[in-house]
Amino acid sequence: MTELPFPDPPLADDTIRLRPWSEADVDAAFRATQDALIPRFTHVPERQTEEDLRRFLDAREPARKAGEALPLAIAGAQTDELLGSISLLRFEWPERRGEIGYWLAPWARGRGVATRAVRLLSRWALVELGLARLALHADTDNQASQRVAERCGFTREGLLRSFEERKGRRHDVVVFSLVPADLS
Ligand SMILES: CC(C)(COP(=O)(O)OP(=O)(O)OC[C@H]1O[C@@H](n2cnc3c(N)ncnc32)[C@H](O)[C@@H]1OP(=O)(O)O)[C@@H](O)C(=O)NCCC(=O)NCCS
Repeated sequence: MTELPFPDPPLADDTIRLRPWSEADVDAAFRATQDALIPRFTHVPERQTEEDLRRFLDAREPARKAGEALPLAIAGAQTDELLGSISLLRFEWPERRGEIGYWLAPWARGRGVATRAVRLLSRWALVELGLARLALHADTDNQASQRVAERCGFTREGLLRSFEERKGRRHDVVVFSLVPADLS
């Protein structure tokens, strides 16, 4: 796979839509990522600066064009307010495997937004993009993310010990997966 397409038509339901990031999101994304849970459980740096964010935004298009990652913003369906981030990443194309990762701004949590976003993008990844397996990795302490995985129909497969390096420490992660047969 070379260039990753944006979902067309864009993925949306009555509450959220998934759309490309824009320059106008920098301020809200900066405010969102000051929250302690995001750097704790993702690769977003601690005390992310606006410059870090701009680097992330600048890296998006090359990564998408190289078939490495598809980063999307989660926005309010009516308001277009930035609610969070969701990406497909860590592809292994010969085996048609990929991973899904996400975070929500603190102001968007606790009302099912992550579940909606993961449902929309995971179905698209399996049905339209043609992945045969989509993985979701959650820190063992990240109960909220594990609940999102379960609510979206992912199967909990087990514990990957010392799987990930984050903030200078190794972390165990719980691995979940979704395959096309789970969608029927
Ligand atoms: C993970 C995240 C996206 C979930 O957002 P959300 O869907 O709005 O989360 P909610 O607050 O609705 O919680 C989801 C579920 O987890 C439960 N939950 C939330 N916080 C929890 C906690 N600290 N302990 C146990 N369960 C918790 C909720 O009760 C809910 O379950 P329910 O629907 O059965 O009631 C959000 O917490 C986040 O952005 N965290 C920081 C970044 C992150 O962890 N990203 C994922 C990396 S794998």
